[in-house]
Amino acid sequence: MAITKAVIPAAGLGTRFLPATKAVPKELLPLVDTPALEYVVREASLAGLRDVLMITGKTKGAMLDHFDRLWDLEAVLEQKGDIKRLQAIQDSAKLATIHATRQHAPRGLGHAVSLARKHIGDEPFAVLLGDDLIDPRDPVLPTMIQVRQRLGGSVVALIRVPPEEISLYGSASAQLVDPALLAGLAGPESSGAVFQLSDLVEKPDPGSAPSDLAIIGRYILDPVIFDALEHTEPGRGGEIQLTDALGDLASRPASQGGGLHGVLFTGRRYDTGNRLSYLKAVVQLAADHPDLGKDFSRWLLEFVPQLTLDHDG
Ligand code: UTP
Repeated sequence: MAITKAVIPAAGLGTRFLPATKAVPKELLPLVDTPALEYVVREASLAGLRDVLMITGKTKGAMLDHFDRLWDLEAVLEQKGDIKRLQAIQDSAKLATIHATRQHAPRGLGHAVSLARKHIGDEPFAVLLGDDLIDPRDPVLPTMIQVRQRLGGSVVALIRVPPEEISLYGSASAQLVDPALLAGLAGPESSGAVFQLSDLVEKPDPGSAPSDLAIIGRYILDPVIFDALEHTEPGRGGEIQLTDALGDLASRPASQGGGLHGVLFTGRRYDTGNRLSYLKAVVQLAADHPDLGKDFSRWLLEFVPQLTLDHDG
């Protein structure tokens, strides 16, 4: 079955970015001139996922407006002859058909995904988190979709992280899948080994992680996830954790939609989930930006030698 639907949970409180996220969702914070949410919707669209359901909190309006046609703004840009910006704002409205569902209280990522049940029905679907930006030059979703088509069950994207960082992620025990089962599967260089996963833990305590493989915010899910989420008790932080429901899927038989695989991603990725990594992402994207990259890089080269490390705290 072709996978055409994507869910973007964007109803978290974004506390790590306060006060910026008091009225603006963190998914709309700009990376140079484009909000994280637009990168993510574009990535879904390029992978053939053109039906996008956003799980929104109190700031639904702004998120939907971003993907809407804004006729008055378009008219002003047209009058000015600013064709480049006109195209940019029209382009984001063409990426996908956008739907929205409200999560009334931030009860966790798993709870947010469970709210997609009615819209998704009985189809496999993708989940993309705005906290993780995957460079369009290194797409991972097409490989994940192929792994689902070949092996069934659900698929997550993985990265390897140093021991001191694993407690920021979900982690799992992993066994390499026999490459013969994946023969002929076309994937970019950046999406490599495929693992069968078990023993999932959300944000493991340092020293107790099952491996150095961390789950990042890209998932292809079998619809049986909705049953698993219904039976998932609140976990870490009192929230319904998607990782806990994925652990349930990993232990279910394939005949019941179970099985969980992970695709190791080694391409370019920008973490925008906390302030420091967000700043690094902005600098990387600015240095690569088609209009600004050269001027910004020149300034950065002059600025960096003046830096000192004598900050208090
Ligand atoms: P995070 O826990 O990283 O994001 O959730 P947060 O809660 O927005 O941020 P902080 O920790 O308060 O700074 C990962 C993703 O899951 C979504 C978030 O919007 C984010 O994209 N999420 C999380 C929901 O949609 N609902 C929730 O109840 C929790």
